Amino acid sequence: MAGKILVTGGMGYIGSHTVVELQQNGYQAVILDNLSNSKPGMLDLITQITGIKPEFINLDMQERDGLEVFFREHHDLEGVIHFAAYKAVGESVENPLMYYRNNLGSLINMLACMTGSRAAKHLVFSSSCTVYGQPEVLPVSENAPVKPAMSPYGNTKQISEEIIEDTCQASKKFSAISLRYFNPIGAHESGLLGELPLGVPNNLVPFITQTAIGKRKQLTVFGNDYDTPDGTCIRDYIHVSDLARAHVVALERMLKKQNKESHEIFNLGTGRGYSVLEAVNAFEKTTGVKLNWKFSDRRPGDVEKVWADTGKANKVLGWKAERGLEEMMATAWKWEVNLNEGLMK
Ligand code: NAD
Ligand code: UFG
Repeated sequence: MAGKILVTGGMGYIGSHTVVELQQNGYQAVILDNLSNSKPGMLDLITQITGIKPEFINLDMQERDGLEVFFREHHDLEGVIHFAAYKAVGESVENPLMYYRNNLGSLINMLACMTGSRAAKHLVFSSSCTVYGQPEVLPVSENAPVKPAMSPYGNTKQISEEIIEDTCQASKKFSAISLRYFNPIGAHESGLLGELPLGVPNNLVPFITQTAIGKRKQLTVFGNDYDTPDGTCIRDYIHVSDLARAHVVALERMLKKQNKESHEIFNLGTGRGYSVLEAVNAFEKTTGVKLNWKFSDRRPGDVEKVWADTGKANKVLGWKAERGLEEMMATAWKWEVNLNEGLMK
């Protein structure tokens, strides 16, 4: 069996898919999560898919003492994949300190533990294409300038990348890969894992599936006057299982000492942009379910169009997204139907 890997936030949306991917590649995944945005039932669902129950520790990473005890007890960790963070853009505008405290505090505590311990010298970090703002050149590559953040949440990702860079510079044995996700959507092919938005979803696809199942009356498409072919915003949607696989590839790059720099950055997208209306049409075509939707004004803070230059990830990492928009929609729908039938109760 390959080594033991810590997955912080491993009960969440992307983390749970990554735990599955790790286990299916022979790794022993250890999950650390405080369940602030997930449910204990995720553990059984992971176990149902892989047949392996991962070790789970319920801990708030802001608690430095608890984290130190965890690292002392897990001195044989080979690496860490760090997902634990808050992620709601609007909430971060209303309560910035909550975001800086959790997203930066957790990261700093963890880096202190990692650099202070004998083990776990390799980190994979969840960053975001939000660091590019509205790029001047599309598709956007990793060399594009990082723009002033449009929200405290986005700022935590920029600052986190800088903290990681400085830590790599200061500690010779330490290495990290920051992965800038474009728009992760979809669910595990089994329909047993997916996104669990608490309350009213902010993101497009959970709102689409909840409208289709009848939990929401109507989907609002924000803005039809953008400078795009159909007037709606364009995003690079990527299937969560493709994203999960990239984390294992990134980790192995460091474990095999193939990384060229101590802190490397990669875009994770498909390289193809779709408009909001194309996403709505893909959902309807794939599932056969008609959506009730209307246009409204633009949502403040939305970037008009962004999609990834995936050349570096394809060539250097040797990773490529495989699943298309219809598979993303089909799996998101399967998950929503399962949730509606009481999967997580
Ligand atoms: P998620 O909310 O589903 O998962 C995050 C998990 O971290 C949750 O299970 C939550 O309980 C846990 N957590 C939060 N704070 C914690 C703390 N202090 N201690 C322990 N556990 C804690 O989110 P996700 O969509 O899976 O996102 C994972 C990561 O990817 C986040 O860092 C997020 O910012 C980043 N990201 C997400 C997206 C996206 O669209 N989903 C896009 C770009 C980047
Ligand atoms: N949209 C709607 N109606 C909705 C929800 C969204 O029309 O009910 C539109 C948005 O206006 C946008 C597109 O659908 O044009 C995608 O919106 P999402 O909220 O799904 O995604 P964003 O691109 O706004 O943001 C997401 C994450 C951020 C992350 C960013 C880049 O929510 O955390 O991707 O990774 F920073």
